[in-house]
Amino acid sequence: MKYAFLGAGKMASAIIQGMLRAKVCTAGDIIAACPEAEILESLHNTTSVRVATSNEEAAGAAPVVILCVKPQEAAIAIQQAGAALDGKLLISIAAGLNVAALEKMAPKCRVIRAMPNTPAIIGRAATAYTGGANTTQADKDCAEAIFASVGVVSYVQEKLLDAVTGLSGSGPAYVFLVIEALTDGGVSCGLPTNLARQLAIQTVLGAAELAKETGEHPAILREMVTSPGGTTAAALGELEQHGVRAAFIQAVRAADQRSKELSGQ
Ligand SMILES: NC(=O)c1ccc[n+]([C@@H]2O[C@H](COP(=O)([O-])OP(=O)(O)OC[C@H]3O[C@@H](n4cnc5c(N)ncnc54)[C@H](OP(=O)(O)O)[C@@H]3O)[C@@H](O)[C@H]2O)c1
Repeated sequence: MKYAFLGAGKMASAIIQGMLRAKVCTAGDIIAACPEAEILESLHNTTSVRVATSNEEAAGAAPVVILCVKPQEAAIAIQQAGAALDGKLLISIAAGLNVAALEKMAPKCRVIRAMPNTPAIIGRAATAYTGGANTTQADKDCAEAIFASVGVVSYVQEKLLDAVTGLSGSGPAYVFLVIEALTDGGVSCGLPTNLARQLAIQTVLGAAELAKETGEHPAILREMVTSPGGTTAAALGELEQHGVRAAFIQAVRAADQRSKELSGQ
């Protein structure tokens, strides 16, 4: 199978590298286009993928076209690809651009809309995707293979993609804030900054991996480290008193709402 990328920025490069690592295809099966020749050259130098001089050339060279431009650049990129897109599977990762909008821009395409997140850069993304009315099971299998190469992937109904954006799309930023805050807490108790940051990062990573590998409910894992009257109980009391749980719930809801607003719902 051949794949064309419109856009060669951070996400395109992460997905291409994931696909090559997972042997979804070879570098010769991928062609990429973007306005900046230097970016394409750098992508070619790191991955050996083919580069195109126009979106039309890229789209014409593959049955699967992955749209990795900023949402505000999507219409023009699709327009530039023109009739070369006809009959193709168009997979968009542009935030907030819904299937109806994509189908309007590219009426002769079968459309898939996906929401990955930045840990795609290291092959640890959480992606959810949805399909338009004309997408086939083979199209979904194709999208699954692409996004599984950079992490975990789930199919959802489109009405849930704003919630996905609020949770996992924007979520890495919430976790970075947690890492910063834990580091600040450690420093305020006397730890050197570098050590505090290392401990904070490894704690977030280890706790997440423990939850994933054991499959235990997070509440059970939390109780495992919370003895009555102990240090963790004291800390959790502070978090509850400061409304941290409610703040995270509200954060996801605010991002869900903003995603709906941005997609014009
Ligand atoms: N970053 C995230 O966390 C995340 C998560 C999920 C989804 N997304 C979505 O992923 C998409 C890409 O994000 P990114 O972070 O990879 O952005 P990025 O690094 O800015 O990459 C965008 C790429 O699109 C190129 N481009 C601009 N106009 C184009 C056109 N007409 N035809 C072809 N290529 C064009 C840009 O080229 P120039 O540099 O030459 O302008 C650049 O290579 C966005 O729609 C975003 O919503 C991002």
